[in-house]
Amino acid sequence: MEIAPGAFHFKRHLSLDAQRTLVAECRALADGPVPAYVPIVRGGGRMHVRMLCLGRHWNGKTYAYEPARSDFDDLPAPPLPDDWKTLARDVARAAGMTGIAFEADLCILNYYDADGRMGTHQDKDESERSLAAGVPVVSISIGDTAQFLFGGLRRRDPVEKLPLESGDAFVFGGPSRLRFHGVSRIIPGTAPPELELTGRFNLTFRQY
Ligand code: SIN
Ligand code: MN
Repeated sequence: MEIAPGAFHFKRHLSLDAQRTLVAECRALADGPVPAYVPIVRGGGRMHVRMLCLGRHWNGKTYAYEPARSDFDDLPAPPLPDDWKTLARDVARAAGMTGIAFEADLCILNYYDADGRMGTHQDKDESERSLAAGVPVVSISIGDTAQFLFGGLRRRDPVEKLPLESGDAFVFGGPSRLRFHGVSRIIPGTAPPELELTGRFNLTFRQY
C-alpha cells in the first residue's frame, strides 16, 4: 500500500517462519561479541532503544557513520549478513524501486522494550548522493506492534500514525526519503506468541 509518493507499507510481508529466523539472528547479534548498546546522543540524552549497527556504525554524538564505535567501545561494526541484504533488496523491489539501484550496505538494528520509543527525526546522515537519488530506507518490524509516526519534509508538517506490526515492511524512498518519522510507543504483548519475543526489533537498511 502506497502511503505517499515513494512510501510503502507492506503488512505481514514476512511469514512467521521468516520472522522466527530473524528473531534468532537479531538475538545472536544483539547479545554477540559486539553487543547492542544504549547510545547517548549529542546533548547527553540516552536513547530509548538498544542499538547495533551493521556494515557501518552510526555515531550518535557526531551523527556520522564510521567503521568502529568511537562513541562507545571502539569495536568495529559487524558485517551486514548476506541474507539480510537480499531481504532488503527484495522489499525495495516489491515497492517498485527498480529505477534506483538499491544495495544496502548498512543496517541499524534497534530493540525496543515496553518503554522503547524514538523521537521524530529525518534519516539524513547517508551520503549526499544516496539522499539526492532518493535511495530508499527499508524497515522491517518484528515483535510487538509500534505506533509509527510518519510526517512530511518539515518538522511542523502533519504526522500520520501507522501501527507497524510483526512482519511488516515499510519503505521510504524517492520524494519521501527525507520525511520525518519516529516511534511514539510500543504496544506490549502484541508480538505473535510463536516468536516468544517480548518487545520489538526493527531493522532499517540503508545504502550509504
Ligand atoms: C528509525 O527511524 O530509525 C526506526 C524506526 C522504527 O523503529 O520503526
Ligand atoms: Mn529513522
